[in-house]
Amino acid sequence: MRPAGDAGDAGDAGDAGSPGSPAPRLIAGADTHMAFLEADGLRRFGGLELVPVEQHPDGLPDLDSLAALLAAGAGVAPAVVCLENTSMMRSGNALDAAATGAVAALAHRYGAHFHLDGARLAHAAVALGVPPAQLAEPADSVAFSVSKGLGAPVGGLLCGSRAYVDRARELRTWLGGSLHQAGVVAAPALVALGRLPDLAADHDRAAALAAGLASVPGAVLMRPPRPTNIVMARLRGLAPDACAERLAGHGVRVLPLSNGYVRFVVHRAHDMIGVREAVGALAAVAATVPAARPTTDGDLPDGESP
Ligand SMILES: Cc1ncc(COP(=O)(O)O)c(C=O)c1O
Repeated sequence: MRPAGDAGDAGDAGDAGSPGSPAPRLIAGADTHMAFLEADGLRRFGGLELVPVEQHPDGLPDLDSLAALLAAGAGVAPAVVCLENTSMMRSGNALDAAATGAVAALAHRYGAHFHLDGARLAHAAVALGVPPAQLAEPADSVAFSVSKGLGAPVGGLLCGSRAYVDRARELRTWLGGSLHQAGVVAAPALVALGRLPDLAADHDRAAALAAGLASVPGAVLMRPPRPTNIVMARLRGLAPDACAERLAGHGVRVLPLSNGYVRFVVHRAHDMIGVREAVGALAAVAATVPAARPTTDGDLPDGESP
């Protein structure tokens, strides 16, 4: 994290500005949580216009496209550049410090605020074998979830300069988000923060799940370069909604996604028995889908790069 006052001020960027002035822009990968779930809220409550930037298969924003967007808005309105790590829609791929640093450097060159959506930053850090602070170092602000695999029932941390966090508290109050008896959720969050190293075991089980699912006839997996606890698979000839529904019939709950895959997430409550059951469930579903069955042409490919 950069010290207070060292970069563009997100508090400013979060304001709509004076009437008639162009809306501040938040530039985020087109395939990110912010772009597909939060753009409306950012516009309505933050006065921010979300501008999507194209991403490479590993989730990293294309730096040339990002530079062009930043240059186009330079001097017109403040900008926030957001990076999601891990990259959920790219099968939870972990982006390393060099990738994070490159995006941050570009943002700062144009005076933009660099925000890290580190909902799963701990997963990225564990997969890369580095402290989370190394990945967060160039960011002006970081959001981090304690519920995603770390075991807390709810909650997240927003980190930044004192002024930034004060401003966020103020905005939260406006939105009616004050939390009383916050210790009730802070206590499990503290436990969660002590559990970061445990994520390695989740990643191992996710790797075993990926290997098992890949062996199912007709299954195609997304193969991220640095996998974490998310496995994305699809069955040839079966839409993700139908696949999710049929898996649910076997007691396996997955999320159908717009990219054609279903998402399996491995966390501390899963063991290898559960992993084998999930593989068995996909095999049972595949057996009901004619297009998923192997042909006489030989083996079906088992993987795709994200
Ligand atoms: C990539 C990403 N960012 C942000 C969030 C929001 O996290 P939280 O619900 O902990 O605020 C999510 C939640 O699903 C997410 O997947």
